[in-house]
Amino acid sequence: MNFELKSLPSARAAQHVTDLLAVLVTDLPKSASDPLGTLLVQAERSGDFQAKPGQTLSMWKVPGFRASRLVLIGAGAGQPRQLRQALAAAALAIKSAKAGHATVMLPAGHEAHAALAVQTVADGNYIYTATKPSAEASSLKTVVVGVVDTSGAKSAFNEGCARVAGMTLAREWGNRPANHATPSHLAKVAQALGREPGIRCEVLGPSEVKRLGMGSFMAVAQGSEEKLRFIVLHYHKPGSKNRQSPVVLVGKGITFDTGGISLKPGEGMDEMKFDMCGAASVLGTFKALAALQPDVPVVGLIPTCENMPDGRALKPGDVVTSMSGQTIEILNTDAEGRLILCDALTYAKRFKPQAVIDIATLTGACVIALGHHRSGLFASDDALAQALERAGDEAVDPCWRMPLDDEYAEGLKSNFADVANVGDRSAGSVTAAKFLQRFAGEAPWAHLDIAGTAWKSGGAKGATGRPVGLLLSYLLGLTPAPSTSKRKPRAA
Ligand code: BES
Ligand code: MN
Ligand code: ZN
Repeated sequence: MNFELKSLPSARAAQHVTDLLAVLVTDLPKSASDPLGTLLVQAERSGDFQAKPGQTLSMWKVPGFRASRLVLIGAGAGQPRQLRQALAAAALAIKSAKAGHATVMLPAGHEAHAALAVQTVADGNYIYTATKPSAEASSLKTVVVGVVDTSGAKSAFNEGCARVAGMTLAREWGNRPANHATPSHLAKVAQALGREPGIRCEVLGPSEVKRLGMGSFMAVAQGSEEKLRFIVLHYHKPGSKNRQSPVVLVGKGITFDTGGISLKPGEGMDEMKFDMCGAASVLGTFKALAALQPDVPVVGLIPTCENMPDGRALKPGDVVTSMSGQTIEILNTDAEGRLILCDALTYAKRFKPQAVIDIATLTGACVIALGHHRSGLFASDDALAQALERAGDEAVDPCWRMPLDDEYAEGLKSNFADVANVGDRSAGSVTAAKFLQRFAGEAPWAHLDIAGTAWKSGGAKGATGRPVGLLLSYLLGLTPAPSTSKRKPRAA
């Protein structure tokens, strides 16, 4: 799917050649001389169209218009929520028409929504085909975003295209079943990213990980026939003299979580193929960085393995030694995400990072607390927390800050090791974060629990590509803004 930004004022809409022209409408003109304006005046007078948010009026081969199909879509007063509704209706119209070439016209003054337009159309037209040959691939080839002022839309449009490239990669690998998305497969995806401009990739296997002393990560992987991988990605803008310390992103890459010996119930266990969505969001963010080339150094760390029950698998009560030297009593082998992340957090210290953010489908408790709308955010540093909250709002990929009081760590005490990997059932997402915090270094650290937001269940079962939008928005906010940019630099 290719996106183009084009200057398309109302007066030129009739001449525009495309399979489907979706026109988002906020203000209905009282009178007009151009064909589109005249049509809008008539549509309102007839009572067929009032530009209510999401309202659509579809027409075919309208005399005077060169587009095969014309769809008027109401966007109400143009509030962000109403525009989102209108864009979703546009995406649906494009999908159901099976258009090859489509154009979405934004109302004047809404140029900054070019990113959302690109994202919503791509989102609504994504079709998973990797292991479903019978699925009809999307016929959509090009999407033109038409605006009045292209200069005002350019940076939002570019960010939207990069976000889509990143989210699509994250979604695709999230969706692939565990036998088609093993740790080695994820390493290959990372190595392919390593050939894009500004990106370098290293992949460590079991012997290197053993040499590093990642006893906690190794313990989770030991019950599986699949070999673990530890992926290290580096992004640095080519030619840049920027010697800033990097932001480190750490993604949980459990390609399948059976629970291990603390086996999960059978029902819905297939969804544990999504337990690598944190890893996928890191891969997606690097894809977006390669597309945009911002001047901010980023390191991506992905510990990836399966969590399986087996003769060699970890048992409840086993004590392992993490890379940090802290011993961990494993009371529940299903709390494995924190066991692979803690060693990656220790590894992150070598980069003397300006910030460390881990992203993980970590706890079912987070889904109970926040549902599927906001990701859980835990942070040791207020400025970092605020920057991530703002980035989430900006990218329509919201999160909500949760507490980290030391009282929540009480339950992690162990008689047999420095720390236990679980407490009691209360505040499960907070104790998980408290466990991770023990391994985070001096640098500002944040943890995003994406258990409720990384995928959807039910009829629309599938990965969402979140939180690539949030992460990208955060990273772009860190780059020194060029004088022409309207983006305000954020503290972090
Ligand atoms: N991957 C799961 C978390 C999860 C569960 C995400 C359900 C989305 C939906 C994680 O590894 C896990 O199993 N966590 C346990 C922790 C518990 C044993 C303390 C959980 O949430 O039940
Ligand atoms: Mn688990
Ligand atoms: Zn898990």
